[in-house]
Amino acid sequence: MDEGGSRIRRRVSVRKRNRPSLESVFAASPATELKHRDEKEDEEMVAGSRRRKTVDVQPVEVQLHHLSDWPEFLVLFPTFGVMIHNQIIDSEEDMFGDYDSFAENSFLAQVDDLEQKYLQLPEHMNHATDHATEDLCSESDKQNTLNVTAVGDCTALNIDDHTKNESRHEDVSVEPEADILYDVPSSQVLFFENLHNSSSDLGGPSTEEKDWNSSCPKTVNEELLVNSREQPQQTVESSSKIRTSSDANRKSLKDHLKSTMTGNAKAQTPIFSRTKQLKETLLSEEINVAKKTIESSSDDLGPFYSLPSKVRDLYVQFKGIEKLYEWQHTCLTLKSVQERKNLIYSLPTSGGKTLVAEILMLQELLCRRRDVLMILPYVAIVQEKISGLSSFGIELGFFVEEYAGSKGKFPPIKRREKKSLYIATIEKGHSLVNSLIETGRISSLGLVVVDELHMIGEGTRGAILEMTLAKILYTSKTTQIIGMSATLNNVEDLQKFLQAEYYTSQFRPVELKEYLKINDTIYEVDSRAENGMTFSRLLNYKYSDTLKKMDPDHLVALVTEVIPNYSCLVFCPTKKNCENVAEMICKSLSKEYLKHKEKEKQEVIMNLKNVSGGNLCRVLKRTIPFGVAYHHSGLTSDERKLLEEAYSTGVLCLFTCTSTLAAGVNLPARRVILRAPYVAKEFLKRNQYKQMIGRAGRAGIDSVGESILILQEKDKQQVLELISKPLENCYSHLVQEFTKGIQTLFLSLIGLKIATNLDDIYHFMSGTFFGVQQKVLLKEKSLWEITMESLRYLTEKGLLHKDTMYGSEEEFQSNFHITKLGRASFKGTIDLAYCDILYRDLKKGLEGLVLESLLHLIYLTTPYDMASQCDPDWMIYFRQFNQLSPAEQNVAALVGVSENYIGKKASGQAIRKKVDKNIVNRLYLSFILYTLLKETNIWSVSEKFNMPRGYIQSLLSAAAAFSSCVLHFCEELEEFWVYRALLGELTKKLTYCVKAELIPLMEVTGVLEGRARQLYNAGYKSLTHLANANPEVLIRTIDHLSRRQAKQIVSSAKMLLHEKAEALQEEVEELLRLPSDFPGIVASSTEKA
Ligand SMILES: Nc1ncnc2c1ncn2[C@@H]1O[C@H](COP(=O)(O)OP(=O)(O)OP(=O)(O)O)[C@@H](O)[C@H]1O
Ligand SMILES: [Mg+2]
Repeated sequence: MDEGGSRIRRRVSVRKRNRPSLESVFAASPATELKHRDEKEDEEMVAGSRRRKTVDVQPVEVQLHHLSDWPEFLVLFPTFGVMIHNQIIDSEEDMFGDYDSFAENSFLAQVDDLEQKYLQLPEHMNHATDHATEDLCSESDKQNTLNVTAVGDCTALNIDDHTKNESRHEDVSVEPEADILYDVPSSQVLFFENLHNSSSDLGGPSTEEKDWNSSCPKTVNEELLVNSREQPQQTVESSSKIRTSSDANRKSLKDHLKSTMTGNAKAQTPIFSRTKQLKETLLSEEINVAKKTIESSSDDLGPFYSLPSKVRDLYVQFKGIEKLYEWQHTCLTLKSVQERKNLIYSLPTSGGKTLVAEILMLQELLCRRRDVLMILPYVAIVQEKISGLSSFGIELGFFVEEYAGSKGKFPPIKRREKKSLYIATIEKGHSLVNSLIETGRISSLGLVVVDELHMIGEGTRGAILEMTLAKILYTSKTTQIIGMSATLNNVEDLQKFLQAEYYTSQFRPVELKEYLKINDTIYEVDSRAENGMTFSRLLNYKYSDTLKKMDPDHLVALVTEVIPNYSCLVFCPTKKNCENVAEMICKSLSKEYLKHKEKEKQEVIMNLKNVSGGNLCRVLKRTIPFGVAYHHSGLTSDERKLLEEAYSTGVLCLFTCTSTLAAGVNLPARRVILRAPYVAKEFLKRNQYKQMIGRAGRAGIDSVGESILILQEKDKQQVLELISKPLENCYSHLVQEFTKGIQTLFLSLIGLKIATNLDDIYHFMSGTFFGVQQKVLLKEKSLWEITMESLRYLTEKGLLHKDTMYGSEEEFQSNFHITKLGRASFKGTIDLAYCDILYRDLKKGLEGLVLESLLHLIYLTTPYDMASQCDPDWMIYFRQFNQLSPAEQNVAALVGVSENYIGKKASGQAIRKKVDKNIVNRLYLSFILYTLLKETNIWSVSEKFNMPRGYIQSLLSAAAAFSSCVLHFCEELEEFWVYRALLGELTKKLTYCVKAELIPLMEVTGVLEGRARQLYNAGYKSLTHLANANPEVLIRTIDHLSRRQAKQIVSSAKMLLHEKAEALQEEVEELLRLPSDFPGIVASSTEKA
């Protein structure tokens, strides 16, 4: 066995040894303490996209572009889909603009790539290393060289940073405007009284919240000085040794890995402690018993709903859940559930729906030993779930695989023994199901869970969800489907579509009181009252004339009744309004608010600067010292994550936010205020209203949750209807979303050979949600006509062809085939509305591709749908154009945009000549992307183009996704061979628009750029470093890292490393397996017979 082999094996086994036994976990933190901590830390880490840059620039104060005035839903960009006005978040994978994916290359291919690059470096002999995982993840060997030499410097750097941080502490002060003394509402006066009379009579929910002057725990900075040298140094030291010995006999890295992995594949399971072994044996025995119990379908459900008792312990340990709610127990013991029938269940928000789904998923993974797919609506939620369930996966022995953003393999890796839990966004879930069908593996999927099932009625994403479910229903009779939602009305239609049972309950752990505010009167919503509401109280406030003018809706009075002891959310109609309201409230708050959790708030500000390369939004700079922040898609993912964490831990007590927060992340509040009954200019829908007010009341913390809808007299009638009417029905969007719905569906049905003739396709269509609702949705046409029409359209477009002519006798039985263009569109998941134009653009590109810079390629991969909503600033356009090289300017001419045109537009002259606006806009967007790739700094680009940083980030994500789609499109078309190599590189550049050395760390769920930079500087340079890290040491070494975050990062890293190692082992086994068609094998077996 060669040396590298044993090292890799050791790394895997070390991971296992390091896994704490259950006793040690409990010994370290008694159950009570754990529970308390977990309650506090219940909010799971939410991670955003991971492709940003940190470049040291001077703080920039960003002027918010007019885009921020847009209603939220117009600026929430689709991954690469069409944005339809009046429909919130159509086709986008992430409300915050994360992007869709591309299949990754095989790991060994990447190794090969890296090795080739490595060998080309003159100095490679000096730095050859076998530190496999580390190097594989790293982009260049040059950086590896730095890794080694940076050891000593790292410590110094940390201390430097620490010193800088301290000085920054002092920098953060309140802007002069905040000093102006405003009249203080009575609620604030009350608050001061309470403050001075000690915290005991505040009646707050937790001691921590009551304790205003709570002495901060010793700051991380203080501890850092003592601990910063601890762990990383050891790691790097040992790796240096390894490097020296391996230099002498360096083999091909790829060969090395293969032989290593062969060894691993054959190796025995490493021996770890006896207690550990006993524990595992016990667990596997319990699983065996549970398996038998579940198979025998007896009434005795075993220790914990057929699951090993360890699962129950883990829920206590990780989530602080000790007992199931009654409804959860009833639901889990339903006969239909035990019979594995499809199920829809519906309960109010915060009812605890997730736990039931999780238990059913664990039963499938552990007892029935089949894979599970969980579909969640947004990237951020997928990542939150991955972080939360990775520790369960590690403890119970299953994989948790992320299918969101740029993550996910198609088809998924076939695991040898352990089962996989795929957690996916709607789009990724669809691609995953397609790939399983294509490879004949769909029945390996035992269970599919859909959260927020009502989304099936929302635009393109709804259509995609419908397609996914319909395909599963049609191709795998053994896959169980479970859907849940808080806002379902026409359940019967969904039940019919999913052939599902239905369970519902009105349970809510925290009572929700709904109020309306008209002028200064507060009414309680009361369904028994004649007009639906009863008088509750008059608002108690004393406003001066100035304050009255500034705050006519009495927001300050309403929020100061709860903050800072309790949290509060204020939903606003637009993004700009969120920022204005946050500022207005802070201007009216007394300075006493600054004292609450002052240090922690300063840390938040420093962290924000940290992740933004020294920049800080000037609104946040003013509001955070008061514990207030805005929350909308204009924030970058790093900022959003930090703010959410600060809110969850009570450092921030007030968010002014747009409606998307209600659907996106789990951030409950004691009081939810709806600033107006509008989302942008649209009147609130009942579903939206329910989702927003549903955030009120934090389970386990609040005894009651309140919602207050502020309204004007003129809207009273409409509001009274809003609070009393039933939830809106949800309707299929399969046909409405023509090119992204039914057309895409047919193309994939034929491409995947699910149904290829008219009869089968019609049969498939009758089983869809649309099929169920067709009579309501489209009265004038029959399902048959719609099917025929769509197929004809696809044939005319050259995406399909047919064996026989339309109208002939055998028409119903004759097969459709997918054309090359059809396959390319299907494989690239290109919106069929754009497949022709994409083909034409690429073809034209072949005639004169400008390769002097990336601009031309970027133009070709700039998403079409984003161009249609772009509104260029012509002066900036002109300035940017003039900064281009002549060759780059030629790109503009080649695509059809002349300098003359841009110049005239910039000077406001009328232009008679017709120019395609989409092309002009698309070029403008590619200028932004081009600048971003060059400067790698979202903040400076945001300033240069006068656009919100969140928008720039969404554009980058969408471009990375579309670039990978175009790559897949080109892979299917011979004539575009030249694009394949070029686009592979471009996709990588767009995906990881960060410093290459951070990429391996950012692969870990929950690690964004700022955190990755901190970890890197502290010596954690690879996935292996993170997987072997001790969370306690991490907390001490890394500034502002909570224990919960540290644990989640280590768990996620372990899970990822495990997955990678397993994948390599599999690849090796496959490589060494004798092919079944090997000459001689067939002959000899026939001879024997
Ligand atoms: N049996 C239980 N005991 C204590 N807490 C629980 C229990 N079940 C769930 N919870 C907690 O309640 C909170 C809300 O649960 P969950 O997120 O599942 O709600 P939900 O029904 O999915 O709501 P929404 O519709 O808003 O998504 C979570 O913090 C969860 O950990
Ligand atoms: Mg939920």
